[in-house]
Amino acid sequence: STTPVLRDLAEPRFFGAALNTTFLFADKKYTQLARTQFSIFTPEDEMKWGEIEPVQNVFDFTRADEIVNFAESVGAKIRGHNFLWETHLPPWVNESLSATEIDRPLKHHITTIMQHYKGRVYAWDVVNEPISDDPNATFRDDIWTHKLGQESVAKALTYAREADPVPKLYINDYNIEGINAKSNSLYEVVKSLKQDGIPLDAIGFQSHITLGQVPSSMQENLQRFVDLDLDVAITELDINLLGPANETALAQQAEDYHSVVSTCMEIERCVSVTVWGISDDHSWIPNGEVLPWDGNKNPKPAFFAIGDAF
Ligand code: XIL
Repeated sequence: STTPVLRDLAEPRFFGAALNTTFLFADKKYTQLARTQFSIFTPEDEMKWGEIEPVQNVFDFTRADEIVNFAESVGAKIRGHNFLWETHLPPWVNESLSATEIDRPLKHHITTIMQHYKGRVYAWDVVNEPISDDPNATFRDDIWTHKLGQESVAKALTYAREADPVPKLYINDYNIEGINAKSNSLYEVVKSLKQDGIPLDAIGFQSHITLGQVPSSMQENLQRFVDLDLDVAITELDINLLGPANETALAQQAEDYHSVVSTCMEIERCVSVTVWGISDDHSWIPNGEVLPWDGNKNPKPAFFAIGDAF
């Protein structure tokens, strides 16, 4: 029997991975999987602010371009990642700037990058991780809310739409997969953004999930966002074993992957499932064995479970 090709099985949805230029081409097996199994890629770090505009108004698209060129060469799309986030900022974006001093560079950052990639990016994570983990707060207490208040989210989305009307504009966050205090906060934020006519097309559910803990309310939760006239996507899926792999853990991991992908399949406007990496040796979680391929690039039970669910 032949190995399943997940990008074919996923159609009309996209199956994606976070792709990293450290391993692309240098690791042949990794690159071969990237070439054959995926229909959409997210640059793992290459489009983050500190990478792409390390010095004010000095843009370095080299590594991000490598990924976009690779994606095009294999007929895959790109999810751009990301613009407004508290992490991976260059030193020049810091708390000493005034509101005006940070607002203009924000607009310039978004506009320059979106124009550079015009026509080549399917979706942008315009806003990453805006919601606080503190159930008593709504927005994250970060440089953006300090300087621009909660308007920062609306500003970023508005600048993005002005720069290029075509790509899907996302808010992307973690621990919002089930119905909980954080996803309730996001839901209220999104509802009011929509009421105010702020451009927003979709919500990304990162889905960094711990073994055995796929929320039972995930489908209901995604559906309530769809009911606000939005697309939804699983954007950074991985399932952390929190310990060494054994047959039981790998079987549970497969079940968890199956359950997340099936949830997406149940929702007509769930457009993609992206895993955060390809193989366990190159995951952002060292020793987490979180991905569908192991460190030797062999398919794990999770890989076959994803194929079954699509
Ligand atoms: C992670 C990358 O995987 C790492 O390589 C990097 O060192 C830190 O960032 N949420 C996100 C991603 O939105 O951008 C993060 O990626 C993982 C958590």
